[in-house]
Amino acid sequence: MKRDVVRSQNFVRDAAEFIMHQARAALAERDQFRIALSGGNTPRPVYSEFARIGRELPWDRIHFTFGDERCVPPDDPQSNFRMARESLFVLAAVPEKSVSRMRGEIDPPIAAQEYQDGLDLMAAQRGEMIYRHDLILLGVGDDGHTASLFPGTAALEENVQKVVANFVPKFDTWRITFTFPLINQARHVCFLANANKNPSLLEKILQGEAEFPAARVAPANGDLTWILVES
Ligand code: 6PG
Repeated sequence: MKRDVVRSQNFVRDAAEFIMHQARAALAERDQFRIALSGGNTPRPVYSEFARIGRELPWDRIHFTFGDERCVPPDDPQSNFRMARESLFVLAAVPEKSVSRMRGEIDPPIAAQEYQDGLDLMAAQRGEMIYRHDLILLGVGDDGHTASLFPGTAALEENVQKVVANFVPKFDTWRITFTFPLINQARHVCFLANANKNPSLLEKILQGEAEFPAARVAPANGDLTWILVES
């Protein structure tokens, strides 16, 4: 696993260009780019910049998935899908068939199973054992969570299922999330994070302190990049 930490003075541009580079490489090698989007606030401007510079990309050969989703309808302000639709899909005119949405509005375990079945079907259609992302984008929460893998929650210990419903006591709510087995299958994982928000937490995670879920992301046969806002 190649690991790279980029401390950027021009985060939005650098992150969008990084995604663009990954897209071009995957399309050239496999005629498809499979990318999982992160939720939260940090990636929003990056998605819009990616839509702007990627205008000419073959969006029908790019497939978007989501690393996690809140258990809300797709038009809810909390929805990661809504954030991606507003900041990327609409701007880039991404066709609906290029997006796999986690149905946060239905029963969480059913939504998780449905999503995992969808990934398995897409993998099987290409003769693959598991759906392997070219790039998974992740964020880091102020407790060291990533996707919806929060400290002390059941999903952290899941080593078979690839997508699960995870109850998060601190929010008293359910989330749908990728698990480490799926995340660590990716060809490339990239964290987009603001180093100024909690520098000491970020350093602990970069040092590999496993009490923080983000520190447990380690692609088995892939690369790991951190692109950090550094003012
Ligand atoms: C979510 C995200 C979550 C997020 C972190 C950081 O659904 O909220 O997937 O893991 O990436 O909480 O969020 P910010 O970018 O808003 O700091």
